[in-house]
Amino acid sequence: MEFPATRLRRLRSSAAMRSLVRETHLEPSALIYPLFLCEGEGVRREISSMPGVFNLSSDEAVKEVEACASLGIGGLLLFGIPDEKDEQGSGAWASDGIVQRGLRAIKKSSQAESLVVIADVCLCEYTSHGHCGIVTRDGDHFDVENDSSVALLAKTAASLAEAGADVIAPSDMMDGRVAAIRTALDEAGKHNTPILSYASKFASAFYGPFREAADSAPQFGDRRTYQMDGANLREAMREIEQDIAEGADMLLMKPAMPYLDVIREARNRFDLPMGAYQVSGEYSMLHAAFQRGWLEPERAMLESLLSIRRAGADFIVTYFAKDAAKAL
Ligand code: PBG
Repeated sequence: MEFPATRLRRLRSSAAMRSLVRETHLEPSALIYPLFLCEGEGVRREISSMPGVFNLSSDEAVKEVEACASLGIGGLLLFGIPDEKDEQGSGAWASDGIVQRGLRAIKKSSQAESLVVIADVCLCEYTSHGHCGIVTRDGDHFDVENDSSVALLAKTAASLAEAGADVIAPSDMMDGRVAAIRTALDEAGKHNTPILSYASKFASAFYGPFREAADSAPQFGDRRTYQMDGANLREAMREIEQDIAEGADMLLMKPAMPYLDVIREARNRFDLPMGAYQVSGEYSMLHAAFQRGWLEPERAMLESLLSIRRAGADFIVTYFAKDAAKAL
């Protein structure tokens, strides 16, 4: 039926009516808040390109846990910023590494029970060169070695699970890492620790501010030989298929807003729980507009999150988690 018999505006007439017919919902429990853990005590250092986001020492991180729990947020995603880095990134799997200690501190808090505590697994925050794996050099040419990196990532995953991580989230994009991590977790007796695989992660300019936050910018070259080419949707589906075959329990898509079509396609094809990561650049660019008064902060924030849910993500990793939970 067409106009005038059908008038779609009828169902937009009041807030109550719009609420009744709303197709997509945002809830604090579907938001995950990233934390950047650093050494020291009482440290709360704001990241200049990410207003409201901080590097936190463990004691300060525990305060965030309490705040997130009381807001009903679904989970946390932990990153570490060690004081010392080396070629291999050995701080990543140290049993007293920055995230391992943070996990133990967080898990002691009674509030942590209501949150799913996810540990990001990657080497780039721990390597002196800033790449996500082992680098070999030959003159000007360098390579990030796949298989030797995978072994270290698997060791890192087991160490983080032993320190108390509820979920292991590999973000490195090496081939075969999910299977290797599954084996390492099982060997460590962590059969029940799920893997949230950053299955489709694109080499993106939108990670820029994160690299300031995590001090993980590559010292030479870029990540295009391991992260995906932004032009490739079908290849993203192959990445996901492989990760599922290797034992991924959940998928994480990244970045979110510039890749909503990829999220939608993955949702149509795969039945695993799927999250999307609204990355640092997405956050910073919105904040830059807020600071200039060019966008209404609350509406733009919620609209950006809603778009990601509508594209098909079950949950969203976002630096807006606390602000959004307060607004909802
Ligand atoms: C580590 C990692 C990155 C992000 C999450 N895990 C950076 C990168 O790949 O360069 C980016 C997150 C963000 O931008 O918010 N590999």
